[in-house]
Amino acid sequence: MKKTLLRVVLVIVILFGSLIAYIGVAGNKDFIVPIPDNLHASKDPAVIARGKYLAFGPAHCASCHTPLSKKAEIDQGKEMPLIGGWAVDIPPGKFRAGNLTPDEETGIGKLTDGQLVRALRYSVNHNDKAMFPFMPFQEMSDEDMVALISFLRSQEPVKNKIEPTEYSLLGKALITLGAFKPMPPVNTPPVSVPVDSSIAYGEYVAHRVANCVGCHTERDLHTGKALGPLFAGGFKLPADAMSEGYTFITPNLTPDPETGIMGSWSEEAFIARFRKGRVFSGSQMPWGSFSRMSDPELKAVYRYLRTLQPVKNKIEKVAYAPGEKVPA
Ligand code: HEC
Ligand code: HEC
Repeated sequence: MKKTLLRVVLVIVILFGSLIAYIGVAGNKDFIVPIPDNLHASKDPAVIARGKYLAFGPAHCASCHTPLSKKAEIDQGKEMPLIGGWAVDIPPGKFRAGNLTPDEETGIGKLTDGQLVRALRYSVNHNDKAMFPFMPFQEMSDEDMVALISFLRSQEPVKNKIEPTEYSLLGKALITLGAFKPMPPVNTPPVSVPVDSSIAYGEYVAHRVANCVGCHTERDLHTGKALGPLFAGGFKLPADAMSEGYTFITPNLTPDPETGIMGSWSEEAFIARFRKGRVFSGSQMPWGSFSRMSDPELKAVYRYLRTLQPVKNKIEKVAYAPGEKVPA
């Protein structure tokens, strides 16, 4: 009897061990995605200036690809090389935003334009690993993509080694199951999008550049999949170092008259709120970067959000202090 039990336990241990070993290998697999060869960095100052505007403004690359200790300076609009540094430790792994200056050893100096474009368009890093969906820039226009990589290349090289991202066993299991994989653009990215205060430009910014949709939609934290209507809020952003221990729940941005921000705010109030910058010092929303969005751009975003289907979703409270009970 005892022997049989021992055998059963042994078999379970072996099966379990093999499963873990399998996940360790399968979850570390390379994704072979062809390197795009159609977009190349430019030295044109106007192109570089657009890239810099995007990186420190609506696309907020600066809020992750700089050390957390520089948050206040980034908020205030201080320009600095994007030496990497932001990191987050969540169940699927430890994700670390790398050095994007042209240093050859620790930065992007040795990466080709195609590798940079592939990272942003297909979510595959230079080591052929699938990246967690922190950077939903897949459908940025060709023109803005070129502007960004041109700006990255124009920075001074700074040596700053950032350890690579590490997936946990859960993260590797999710890769094995196909939950994270390269994310090609769903729609063909536009070649160029006119920058103006139109609803079309607002939609482009809210979905493809500033990721308003990513945070203001309830999502599964393990896979990034949307669980609720787009822009209806309710996404719980867990407490971490950046949030100063606060848990935030994003507000509803649809024009529902009772529960949505766009139902009651005027265009002037919306722009004034963005100019003011951060209210909660730990909020994950990159208010500093967004405070530098141009007037026409903010008008465009406001006008687009006003066209959304109103969704009733009451968010009682957005900020929960450390130790405070957060609704499930
Ligand atoms: C929310 C945080 C966040 C924002 C915003 C962000 N990144 Fe990243 N980025 C990361 C993380 C984390 C990684 C590492 C992911 C990994 O290795 O799994 C990364 C990786 C990259 C890589 C891949 C480098 C390689 O090793 O191949 C590039 C290129 C990049 N980011 C560029 C940008 C640009 C350009 C922007 C702005 C348009 C941007 N990032 C905005 C967090 C961010
Ligand atoms: C990284 C996540 C994140 C992104 C990206 C983001 N938000 Fe937010 N947003 C939040 C959080 C968290 C709050 C609640 C805390 C706060 O007010 O800072 C918030 C609050 C707001 C508020 C309410 C402010 C107030 O004073 O009541 C508005 C309006 C808003 N966001 C609009 C936007 C728009 C428009 C975009 C895109 C341009 C955007 N957000 C992108 C996380 C995000």
